[in-house]
Parts: sequence; structure tokens; C-alpha cells
Amino acid sequence: MQARERQTENGSVTVQAGSTAQSGSAKSLSLPPEPRPASRAGLSKGRSQKAGNRIRAVVTGAAGFIGSHLCDRLLADGHEVVGIDCFRDSYARNLKEQNLATARASRGFSFCRLDLAEEDLSSVLDGAEVVYHLASRSGLGVSTGRDFDQYIFDNVLATQRLLEALAGRPITRLVYAGSSSVYGEAEMLPTKESSVPRPLSTYGATKLAAENLVQLYGRNFGLPVTVLRYFTVYGPRQRPDMAISRFMRALIQGDEIEVNGDGEQTRDFTFIADAVEATVRSATANVVGDVLNIGGGSRSTINDVLDALADISGRTIRRRYLAAAAADQRHAAASINLARWRLSWEPRVALQNGLASQWAWFQQLAGREPGVSKAAVPA
Ligand SMILES: NC(=O)c1ccc[n+]([C@@H]2O[C@H](COP(=O)([O-])OP(=O)(O)OC[C@H]3O[C@@H](n4cnc5c(N)ncnc54)[C@H](O)[C@@H]3O)[C@@H](O)[C@H]2O)c1
Repeated sequence: MQARERQTENGSVTVQAGSTAQSGSAKSLSLPPEPRPASRAGLSKGRSQKAGNRIRAVVTGAAGFIGSHLCDRLLADGHEVVGIDCFRDSYARNLKEQNLATARASRGFSFCRLDLAEEDLSSVLDGAEVVYHLASRSGLGVSTGRDFDQYIFDNVLATQRLLEALAGRPITRLVYAGSSSVYGEAEMLPTKESSVPRPLSTYGATKLAAENLVQLYGRNFGLPVTVLRYFTVYGPRQRPDMAISRFMRALIQGDEIEVNGDGEQTRDFTFIADAVEATVRSATANVVGDVLNIGGGSRSTINDVLDALADISGRTIRRRYLAAAAADQRHAAASINLARWRLSWEPRVALQNGLASQWAWFQQLAGREPGVSKAAVPA
């Protein structure tokens, strides 16, 4: 199918519904199928966002890991979706193009390539009812001081510009993708939303600053905002800098797996479909002004993940333990009772099933795009 990207009035590039991207350095790509975990019966639809109650949703960070899945879900529910992304070079452009492929094949989707921090947002927000703000510069590994201005730019400035453009518009909800990294070394486990945030990374600090801006615009300008704090989301399309992706890349290449610290640090791994389900529900539930933890419902060590991967892949895993990263929390565990209650939501995918799904996807991706296992993340 021929790409139909076009310049909009504000200079950004839009891909019209039903087109396939093929611009700049991006290759023509098709998306490998993304197996669903066996235990999952299928997503139920968010209550008032079912097809038949079609809305116009804007998703920022649409070419990213979570944003692209969210677009796919909203489109499958029959909504009109405007995806925004600037293809920041935090990881390879061709991976982001693949993330977008399913959405781009849908009639209800249009894509706008623009930078939230420095371009005019007025026309792209016209008619928007729900805005999901997921655009961000992520990655704890490099966020200890280096590139700080870029974290400010994409996490703080971009969020403030979006909020400014939304103030006074009749949107029904702005859902902000916050992060568990705002907690740092949490004072209690599992961590409740009321815990005092003490980020350990500059990434976490900028995510917290953005969260505060979102709440400020909610209070001062009446924007109906909801903040979600995701805990380690994983699954097909996971960012290449994230631990599980790195482990899978090493496994495919037959390399030693490098583990930061002793591997006994714990994380609350959240399967992508569970995170998306909570995100969709938060757009219509009675949660204006709320902050909600979104976690997988149980804690696992990194060593547990490696054991599960060995089991799933049938491969021997060679591990090399490195010094713990300074910005790494030792433990992260979400108290998700508030989300359970307010969103009528429950994470459904167990770690073993979610990892099997990601492993199947990763093998297909690496088979089709051999370079992906080496050159996915800029040095
Ligand atoms: N993946 C996780 O485990 C996790 C955990 C906690 C929070 N989050 C949050 O969820 C959101 C999505 O995370 P992800 O893992 O999908 O990240 P991602 O890097 O895959 O996606 C983010 C996208 O935002 C785009 N972007 C960045 N700056 C932009 C700008 N100025 N204008 C337009 N687009 C811009 C990038 O190009 C990228 O495609 C982020 O806000 C992140 O902080 C993710």
C-alpha cells in the first residue's frame, strides 16, 4: 500500500488512515504477529468507550511501546485515533515504524509527526475528547545526569506545552502516563500512592515534575486529569533498553546476560495488555484528579525472570553480575488496590505467560530484522 504522509499546516507530517509509512530512513516493514498469552481470554472493553460510543482520542508517544498498543486497542474498540510522535532517536526508528504498522492499517487512524515541546499543537487537538499523554524520554540507565536537558525537554517542557494547548478545551479526560520511578527507594512495600515520592533518577524526577504540572493544570484550569503510575511494563514491542528486551537480545545472540546488581532486586512486572486495559478504563472512570498505581499484582526478582526465560526458551543462560546501577531502585512493588477499586480492573497475565508472549514476538522480530538484535539502541 502506498504511504500517504502529508505536511499539515503546522509543518508536521500526517499519515492518513489506511496508509503504510515509508519515509526518511525508514524501511518498508510489516509487523510480525504478536501472540497473545494463552491464559488471556481477551480484553473487555472500557465501559463507556465501546464501539457505538465512538470518540476522538489523541495518543502522544503513539510510535512507542505502550502508546502503539494503546492506539491498536482504541482502534479495535471502534474509536478515531490521532497518534502523535516525533520519532525521538532514543531507539531505532524502524522499531517505532513497526510499532505503528497495525494502527496505520486502520481506517480510524491518522498520524501526526510533531514535537510536543516546540510545535504548534492547536490543529491536531481539534475535536479531541480524550487525550492520552504517553510521549516521554524514558530509560533509567542514562538518566543519572547525562542528557538531563533532553529529559527536561521531552518530559517536562513537552508536557507543559501540551497542557497549555489543552487548557480551555472541552476534553473529557487527560490521562498522563506517570512512572513508579517517582517513588525511588519507597518507604513501604507494596507502595501506596500516598507514599512520599523520592526519585533516584533524573528520569524519575522529571516524570514527577510533569505529574505535578498535570495536577496543577487540573486544579488551576479545570482540566479533567488522571495520573497513572506504571510499574515495569513488558510484552511485545517493549523498548530495547529495558531489561527483559536486553536479556532476550543477549539470548538470541548467544551472549552472556549482564545483570545489574545481584539479580535479587524485585520489580512488579505489568503485562502490556493489562496496562492498556487500565489506561482505557481510566479515561472514563470516576478518577479525575486521582493518581493510580498500575502494576502486575506480584513481585518477582530479576533472577526469577531469567529462570523463567531459560524455561521458556529452552536455552542455557549465562549470567554475569555487574555493579548495581546507582539510579536503580532495589525493590518496586505496587499497591494496586486503588486501581482495582476505582477502575474495576485486575491484572490478568502471569509473568510466565507474558514472558512467553514477548519471547515469541522477539524471536520473530529478530528473524525478520537481524540488525535489530545489535543496533536497536544508540550507543
Ligand atoms: N515502559 C514502561 O515500563 C514504563 C514504566 C513507567 C512509565 N512509563 C511511561 O509510559 C510512557 C510510554 O513509555 P514507553 O515505554 O512506551 O516509551 P517509548 O520510548 O517506547 O515511547 C515514547 C514515545 O514518545 C515519543 N516522544 C518523546 N518525546 C516526544 C516529544 N517531545 N514529542 C513527541 N513525541 C515524543 C518518542 O519518540 C517515543 O516513540 C512514558 O511516558 C513512560 O515514562 C513506561
